[in-house]
Amino acid sequence: MARILETSESETQTFYDRIADVHNLAMKINGYRTSVANYLESLNLTFDKNSLVLDAGSGTGIITLGFHSAGFRPKKTIALDLSINSLKIARDQFEKDEETDAENICAVQGNILQLPFADETFDLVLTCGVLEYVSLEEGLCEFARILKTGAKLVLIPVKPSIVGSVLEILYNFKTHSIEETEEIAGRWFEIVGNYEFPITEPIGWSKMIFLLEKSRS
Ligand SMILES: C[S@@+](CC[C@H](N)C(=O)[O-])C[C@H]1O[C@@H](n2cnc3c(N)ncnc32)[C@H](O)[C@@H]1O
Repeated sequence: MARILETSESETQTFYDRIADVHNLAMKINGYRTSVANYLESLNLTFDKNSLVLDAGSGTGIITLGFHSAGFRPKKTIALDLSINSLKIARDQFEKDEETDAENICAVQGNILQLPFADETFDLVLTCGVLEYVSLEEGLCEFARILKTGAKLVLIPVKPSIVGSVLEILYNFKTHSIEETEEIAGRWFEIVGNYEFPITEPIGWSKMIFLLEKSRS
């Protein structure tokens, strides 16, 4: 059954529906896909023919594209976002991209705070620049719910910085502090890695990575 969105979610959806093309172009120019692919390649992630992966708040699909560029081929990758226009661009890119297994990617409209999936469904969640729109506690709790115990969450937040402060104004979100992220993540996850992108890569100016492993529901 369709759910009526809260005002702030509906504003976020309208905002990203409007800027989807520009946001996608900016992500391409920034080289986020390659930066994320290089990081993911360095991890010892293994998938089998039943593995399910979620790109939570996928936008136009840059993180899913990076994940597929890194050579990972789970059974299905689900790209979920509020913005229909972003998902249309994502689907188009998946279909045209030679490094991407488009047949096994689904683009789904949804809210990360009410994911339409059963408990303990996913083997990996990737999420970049989305928890900044919601309560960190509610978002991480929902990711913990749908992840299998022992599965990983690759969390790519906006890091507190001057660039982060500019992005807060441009994109109308709220950066979470590193201390808050570590404290709240620790309720469900073990922090198994912290990663800073090289300063030569534009993603490193605003983003970092927490590699988390679900320890409890
Ligand atoms: C800064 S963009 C990041 C998109 C993508 N992950 C990337 O790295 O390019 C934030 C995205 O989060 C989505 N978003 C914000 N709140 C959301 C929510 N509650 N549920 C699902 N998606 C949400 C927006 O529609 C937008 O596409």
